[in-house]
Amino acid sequence: MRVQFTVAIDGPAAAGKGTISKAVAQHFGFAHLDTGLLYRAVGLKVLNGADPTQAARALTPGDLTGGDLRTPDVAQAASRVAILPEVRQALVDFQRSFARGPGGAVLDGRDIGTVICPEADVKLYVTASDEVRAHRRWKELTGKGIDVTEAEVLDEMRIRDSRDAGRDLAPMRAAADAVLLDTSALSIDAATAQAIAAIQAGLPA
Ligand code: CDP
Repeated sequence: MRVQFTVAIDGPAAAGKGTISKAVAQHFGFAHLDTGLLYRAVGLKVLNGADPTQAARALTPGDLTGGDLRTPDVAQAASRVAILPEVRQALVDFQRSFARGPGGAVLDGRDIGTVICPEADVKLYVTASDEVRAHRRWKELTGKGIDVTEAEVLDEMRIRDSRDAGRDLAPMRAAADAVLLDTSALSIDAATAQAIAAIQAGLPA
């Protein structure tokens, strides 16, 4: 079946968006784009001395791979470049054409349901308590050998969340028609099952 169907998944850092997005994309056979990687790739280039707007305009798919995009420093750099209108604008077309690809697409980020794909067929806003999110991210980072304390992760996340939610352009927020999914007390499987049910309900009969 060749459908055109878009799922928008937004929410704050380490709420489970990435894991849920990958799992539902696999379940439905949809393509998946982690839009945070676009901002992280621009952030990394800026840390290496590039101009943010030029870096965003020149981004290539090859820039989105590589383990060094997942560090806390790159996350901070990503949220700093994400404030800039020229950077966000440079990334819009790529995201929208990905969303329109044949066969269905899942995009996760901060502004997918509100700005990038306001017409998405299903929107989810995934959250969890600050402590749960910090614990998950701390486990993920230390598992990769990144030396960081849980308190540092919590601080980094809170700074980034308030910058992301407080910016003028495309702030992080739930779309009015988003399904809210609080994963604080949910296993990955339980959270994924709820996301699948919400998407299933939005699929054409
Ligand atoms: O993995 P995590 O949720 O911590 O972050 P991410 O999704 O990789 O996003 C990194 C940063 O990119 C965020 O803190 C935002 O500042 C920015 N971002 C954005 O502004 N808009 C998006 N659609 C996705 C990410």
